[in-house]
Amino acid sequence: MTNFNKYIKGLGVCLMLLLTGPISYAQTENTGILESLDASKIMIILVLVVMLLVLLVAFYLLVILQVMVREDAIRKAKEKGIEYVEEPSAWSKFYAGLTDAIPIEKENTIVLDHDYDGIKELDNHLPPWWKYMFYASIVFAVIYLYMYHISGSLPLQTQEYEIAMAEAQANMSSAEEGSSVDESNIVFSDDPVVLASGKTVYERNCVACHKAAGEGGIGPNLTDEYWLHGGSVQDIYNTVKNGVPDKGMIAWKDVLSP
Ligand code: HEC
Repeated sequence: MTNFNKYIKGLGVCLMLLLTGPISYAQTENTGILESLDASKIMIILVLVVMLLVLLVAFYLLVILQVMVREDAIRKAKEKGIEYVEEPSAWSKFYAGLTDAIPIEKENTIVLDHDYDGIKELDNHLPPWWKYMFYASIVFAVIYLYMYHISGSLPLQTQEYEIAMAEAQANMSSAEEGSSVDESNIVFSDDPVVLASGKTVYERNCVACHKAAGEGGIGPNLTDEYWLHGGSVQDIYNTVKNGVPDKGMIAWKDVLSP
C-alpha cells in the first residue's frame, strides 16, 4: 500500500494549495498590475483559480481510485495463483485506434514481395487520424463551396474588401457630420465644461507663444481691446483655424478638431 500513501500525500498537497492559493492571491491584490484590475475581474480570476484546483483534486481522486482498483486486481490474481496481466490503459487503446499500426512483432504479416536490394516494403494501413482529417476536409470543401459560391451567403474576398471600404466611407462621412462647426455657425459658450476643455487646449498648444494668461509673447496679447484680425467669435475662429502663416501663427485646422 506504499503507492497508495504517496497518492494520499499528493492529495494533501492539493488541498493545501486549494486553501492557501486564494489567500496568497488576496495578499498580492494591492500591488503591481493587479491594482489596475477591478473587483469583478479579480473575482473571475479567483473563481477560475478555485475551479482549476478543484479539477486538480478531482483528477487526483481518479488516480487514487485507479491505483486502488489495480492493487485489488493484483491481490485477487495472487489469491488465484495466476500472473497479473495489466489491461491496456484507455489512452493506449485510443492511441492504437488513431494510428492503427501493426506492431513490429507482426510485421512479417504485411511485408509485400517487393524487394529493392534487400529493402522491403510494408503494406501498412493509412493512419485513421489522417483519414478522418481527409474526410473532414471533403465535408468542409462541400460546405465551403455551397456557402461562398452557390448560395453566396458569405462574402468572397473582393466582396469583403468592398464591404470594408463602404463601412469606412460611412464612418468618415458620419465623422464629418458630427463636427459640422465652422465660421458660419460657431457660437460663444460660457458653459464651464466647454471653457475647461478650451483651457486645456490652450495650455497644451498656445501658451508657448501667447503666454499663460494670454498676455502675449511671440504672439500678440489676446486679452486687450485690440485685435489684428478681428475680435468676434467668428473672426477668432477663422484666425485659429487658418492661422497667419506669414506672421508665425499656425493654422490649427489640421491639429485641432473644429
Ligand atoms: C508659434 C507661436 C504661436 C502659437 C503656438 C499660437 N499662436 Fe496665435 N498667434 C501667433 C502670432 C505670431 C500671431 C500674430 C499674427 C499676426 O501678426 O497676424 C498670433 C495671432 C493669434 C490670434 C489673433 C490675434 C489678433 O489680434 O487678431 C489669435 C486669436 C490666436 N493667435 C490664437 C491662438 C490660439 C488659440 C493658439 C493655440 C491653439 C495659438 N494662437 C497658438 C503665434 C502663435
